[in-house]
Amino acid sequence: MSIQLRPYRFADKQDLVRFANNPRIAANVRDAFPSPYTEADAYRWLDICISDRENSPQINRVIALDDQLIGGIGLIRQRDVYRYSAEVGYWLAEPYWGKGYVTEAVRQIVAEAFATTDIHRIYAGVFSFNTASMRVLEKAGFALEAIHKQAVYKGDAYWDEYLYVKFRP
Ligand SMILES: CC(C)(COP(=O)(O)OP(=O)(O)OC[C@H]1O[C@@H](n2cnc3c(N)ncnc32)[C@H](O)[C@@H]1OP(=O)(O)O)[C@@H](O)C(=O)NCCC(=O)NCCS
Repeated sequence: MSIQLRPYRFADKQDLVRFANNPRIAANVRDAFPSPYTEADAYRWLDICISDRENSPQINRVIALDDQLIGGIGLIRQRDVYRYSAEVGYWLAEPYWGKGYVTEAVRQIVAEAFATTDIHRIYAGVFSFNTASMRVLEKAGFALEAIHKQAVYKGDAYWDEYLYVKFRP
């Protein structure tokens, strides 16, 4: 079975808490991702995604398997001179890692963004130790554009950030 991308629903709350409350996910993303991930955090996130769809610079989607939430993927359009660029970010529930699901999710959200917006450039910043995420982006047709040396402070240490990019074909 393959994954689908769909909008968030308040009924996703329990799955969101169950799967997002994982330090192995939090270790690979920004500190804004709560850890521990509580019911209140899940509600806050669902409220943003559900109430803010109109005119939002963000596209936020559930990664779903047979309609059940198993992860999240989002695209944030930037501002000012960066307004034709968007950042993509994603996470997947640990029991589903290594099945090609996020590669498929990235392909789908990139296709949606290029089909429904005038975004020209999509990028992702990956911490230097996250080789699985780099592989995802390579498989989805992104290219390594830059390495920002010691740009990330995570877990009491500095890490390089690998910047991957894909342009509108
Ligand atoms: C990183 C993450 C998104 C990958 O999702 P996924 O669905 O497991 O990814 P895929 O199965 O599509 O592809 C993973 C690829 O990385 C490879 N991989 C996995 N672990 C690896 C490792 N430790 N070193 C090198 N490659 C690795 C897999 O073999 C696969 O490549 P392949 O198809 O060539 O064999 C997922 O593990 C996750 O959510 N991690 C925590 C949050 C996170 O890192 N978010 C991204 C922040 S930039």
